[in-house]
Amino acid sequence: MATSLSRYLVEQQRAKHHIPPELRLLLEVVARACKGISHAVNKGALGGVLGSAQSENVQGEVQKKLDIIANEVLIEANEWGGHLAAMASEEMDSIYVVPNRYPQGEYLLLFDPLDGSSNIDVNVSIGTIFSVLKKPESAEKVSEADFLQAGQAQVAAGYCVYGPQTTLVLTVGDGVAMFTLDREQGSFVLTEENVRIPEDTREFAINMSNMRHWDKPVTDYITECLAGKDGPRGKDFNMRWVASMVADVHRILTRGGIFMYPWDKRDPDKPGKLRLMYEANPMSWLIEQAGGMATNGRERILDIQPTQLHQRVSVCLGSKNEVARFTAMHQSEA
Ligand code: AHG
Ligand code: MN
Ligand code: MN
Repeated sequence: MATSLSRYLVEQQRAKHHIPPELRLLLEVVARACKGISHAVNKGALGGVLGSAQSENVQGEVQKKLDIIANEVLIEANEWGGHLAAMASEEMDSIYVVPNRYPQGEYLLLFDPLDGSSNIDVNVSIGTIFSVLKKPESAEKVSEADFLQAGQAQVAAGYCVYGPQTTLVLTVGDGVAMFTLDREQGSFVLTEENVRIPEDTREFAINMSNMRHWDKPVTDYITECLAGKDGPRGKDFNMRWVASMVADVHRILTRGGIFMYPWDKRDPDKPGKLRLMYEANPMSWLIEQAGGMATNGRERILDIQPTQLHQRVSVCLGSKNEVARFTAMHQSEA
């Protein structure tokens, strides 16, 4: 019989003792919210959900209607269950503390409600990324500082990709599992367990239009790849860039590859484009749990001690041997 997400989580709780009941509830609620977002995404123009919302988020990016809808769906689903103390989102300036009228739980939830915003209106895969932390025991009144924990402290992480299929990908520290949404049953069904990323790859993902802005180690690494069979790598590489991190990471978890969004000279004070706490950290943990590697070119992403909720970071993740090579090229430069 097919294993539902609920059953998988009950087994993680009961037999494997990986997760307590409150965390199971939290993950069920996040999955339910993703189902709601998936329905909104599927309706597209018929649901009036496409286009811009005429507002900007804290990072100065124009918000799309779906960015805001997805954010609201996640908050409304998660605020009343008693499992959370507070939430943080790409689309909110500061943290959202669970209102007084509801019980406060022990967990903190962070999310990028809609990743790949530039792909919403063109019917290309987009997704939701989430990360779960435990509220520090010392904390009485929850504050933004409680969220500033390194990625290795995550207790659960995942994403839901809204593509030709809606797939939820999850880790609670026991490998990576994938669940496909069965629309007739209305439930997520386990379709892949113990996901493993091949250590070698011939496929890279980077926005090549930024090449002239890159740092030397990045240019050197890509130049080697582009030289193909006759170059130092002795093999031809292929390129893919969806411009939705969820979709690019999903491909890498499925068949390997390397994904990079490095720092560049366009905005030298920004460490990168992607956000550490709700993009890089959850994705890096999933990648490591599947046998891959994730660094900012110099150090392991999961070791970075955050200082700000919306802080950005350079990202290189995917097949182990390629990420190791990319990282070594930065070290020989230093
Ligand atoms: P978001 O839509 O949440 O702001 O994130 C978009 C991110 C990421 O998903 C993707 O890899 C990258 O931005 C694409 O950037 P470019 O448009 O520079 O290619
Ligand atoms: Mn994003
Ligand atoms: Mn987003």
